Amino acid sequence: MRMVDIIGKKRDGLELSTAEINFAINGYTKGDIPDYQMSALAMAIYFQDMNDRERADLTMCMVHSGDVIDLSAIAGIKVDKHSTGGVGDTTTLVLAPLVAALDIPVAKMSGRGLGHTGGTIDKLEAIAGFNVEISNKQFIELVNSSKIAVIGQSGDLTPADKKIYALRDVTATVNSIPLIASSIMSKKIAAGADAIVLDVKTGAGAFMKTDAMAEQLAHAMVKIGNQVGRSTMAVISDMSQPLGFAIGNALEVAEAIATLKGEGPEDLTELTLVLGSQMVVLAKKADTLEQARAMLKEVMANGKALAKFKEFVINQGGDGSMIDDPSKLPQAKYKIEVPAQESGFISQIVADEIGVAAMILGAGRATKDDIIDLAAGLMLHKKVGDSVKIGESLLTIYSNKEDVSAVVARIYANIKIANHATAPKLIHKVIID
Ligand code: URA
Ligand code: CA
Repeated sequence: MRMVDIIGKKRDGLELSTAEINFAINGYTKGDIPDYQMSALAMAIYFQDMNDRERADLTMCMVHSGDVIDLSAIAGIKVDKHSTGGVGDTTTLVLAPLVAALDIPVAKMSGRGLGHTGGTIDKLEAIAGFNVEISNKQFIELVNSSKIAVIGQSGDLTPADKKIYALRDVTATVNSIPLIASSIMSKKIAAGADAIVLDVKTGAGAFMKTDAMAEQLAHAMVKIGNQVGRSTMAVISDMSQPLGFAIGNALEVAEAIATLKGEGPEDLTELTLVLGSQMVVLAKKADTLEQARAMLKEVMANGKALAKFKEFVINQGGDGSMIDDPSKLPQAKYKIEVPAQESGFISQIVADEIGVAAMILGAGRATKDDIIDLAAGLMLHKKVGDSVKIGESLLTIYSNKEDVSAVVARIYANIKIANHATAPKLIHKVIID
């Protein structure tokens, strides 16, 4: 087999066999195939696409390019949730203890990564003592005994994806549905998920800026998952404005605590219930979404969800008293209100730009060596569609730096006030095949 023939075949719009896909991906991962040939193949896929069979083969080839986490020692169906990423997305912190409170095993492997705020691990580290550097054995034991544990990324998961993604990044081939879908799904499958709930974000703060693109990606990922024996479904949710009120690590932990008590922001609560209901059904703990939703609301109301969060924190070395009293979480030195300059209705809160404002305060990383300020961030007081009076606070800046003038300027440029506005729809679509 020769790489040049595989490239030519895809360039001409023909279907690649399983053997050809494996040859290209494995050869590239090992270093036998050079960057220029893999770039040519990625570009050919970008223009000619892949059919469902090719997409599934590509995904599984990347899964097997490295370690595959074996969660078979954990009883029950392991349902994982994946979000394509947004601004102030606190759902994982809420969902994990919420479904674990219904005895659904949550075995979460998480990373730090780059972005407006930290990854799930960074957020959890706002709780003093919280430790994700646990052994695989401890991890499995905790999930079996307590139904929930989080471990830092270890091992060598999907090296093929890492290498190909880095190449796509510099060859203008990131934005390809078969390549994105296989990249995301390969990581979830390698991390051991039996079933997968996808939260595909759409709008300014999302990777997919339009509903049409988000829908295409969602369908592609759901198809791949179901084809390779992992029950998969997707929710397309709004990310034109940030989710919830809090954007920042400690702030989001406090927001998650409030939401687990049933006192969280309306949009975060609703998205959590929608995604959580799907997880409960996939885990076969309820027959219908309505039944699942009622079960989730019950553990929010009776305190079991919050108690599960506290148990999880203590299990992993964290200070449980911070869950009882979130004012013990890291606090910023300065709290600065940003008043509205006119009266009207909030018509836009541009999610990605507000995310950048939080990052400038230190809530997220621009490069992997940046150190996160866990206390820094923004707390919105208004969402799109809300009325506002001149002088009323739009949001509070939490900062350890005194000079926040650049952040204030960015906020004013990206929160728009108009004569009328309506709240955006939160759930755009649910995709089950
Ligand atoms: N995120 C991923 O993990 N992979 C892609 O290809 C794009 C976004
Ligand atoms: Ca939030």
